[in-house]
Amino acid sequence: MDEALFEYDSVSICNNGLGLKILDQTKLPNEEVFIILHNEDDFTDAITSLKVRGAPAIGIAAAYGLSVLMCNSGIKSINDYHNEFARIKNLLLKTRPTAVNLSNALNRMEDRFLKISKDKNITVEQINQKLREEAELIKNEDIGSNLEIAKNAISLLKPSMSILTHCNAGHLAVSRYGTALAPIYLAKSKGWNIKVYSCETRPLLQGARLTSFELMRAGIDVTLLCDNMVSSLMSEGKIDAVITGCDRIARNGDTANKIGTSSIAVLASYYKIPFYVAGPSTTIDNDSLTGDSFVIEQRSPEEVTEMWYSERMAPKNISVYNPAFDVTKSQLISAIITEKGIFRYPYKF
Ligand code: MRU
Repeated sequence: MDEALFEYDSVSICNNGLGLKILDQTKLPNEEVFIILHNEDDFTDAITSLKVRGAPAIGIAAAYGLSVLMCNSGIKSINDYHNEFARIKNLLLKTRPTAVNLSNALNRMEDRFLKISKDKNITVEQINQKLREEAELIKNEDIGSNLEIAKNAISLLKPSMSILTHCNAGHLAVSRYGTALAPIYLAKSKGWNIKVYSCETRPLLQGARLTSFELMRAGIDVTLLCDNMVSSLMSEGKIDAVITGCDRIARNGDTANKIGTSSIAVLASYYKIPFYVAGPSTTIDNDSLTGDSFVIEQRSPEEVTEMWYSERMAPKNISVYNPAFDVTKSQLISAIITEKGIFRYPYKF
């Protein structure tokens, strides 16, 4: 992978473990503004308002959040530490419900905490240090997973292909490189000429604002389209494959991703275009047999009616349907690519 394609990580620990530096993704593409999260309002607001977003990045930010907030709590007794840890974990867990990376990362931090706090001689400072190391490990493992996803996924592609993607499953959404976009970056490093079509991704425009931005910055040929133009593009034979990211994968391969993904999968099936999903195994929800039990985040009506417009674009008090994710049935997915390999229907991970 050509590291020169990536100028910075969108989530990094700073201030000697007392702050988390994130790129505020709500300001992109017009401004590249970094902010530092210190207190619990900073963290909960950053995750709920999508300043940091994308399933793996949310998990990493939450793990660091536990570490930073415990360091900043000033707590000195182990008993108090237990109570505060549980409170903060619960607070972060409630920020966004669909991406399972969030709960997987927080549960992993808790397991580590419970294990180390069994040592009666351990100090609060040592616990803080070990929690920080665990969060760092979660980020580093994600970087490693993305590199493996890139290598696995590129075996499904060919130079000069045209790929459609939806939402943003790139460098901005993870620790580094991306999931769905990682093979595109690897292809670029190999001198391949891949063309990307990026769906705008209503209503929060992750495709228009983020995917277009990061791919253009890396010198990758990217064309933007509105979400309702996919059928037209596919019918003209302009798409060789679809690759998206994912927020939660059930044991049978049903996959939640940004709203609109399932309709692209239906269209890909109709036009006989391979539909691939890429994600690390931290996105697998071992507690869900199928996608029917996934909790789908519902977001505010204003995202549909007025956000991004200089004036409101729908009548006042109109009822609005605004789920943030939908579930693509496993039968519609040609392959799910994780760091462990390429899986096909019927899925067994
Ligand atoms: O609401 P968002 O922007 O957090 O939704 C993100 C997505 O749906 C991504 O496709 C998914 O998290 C994969 S990120 C590698």
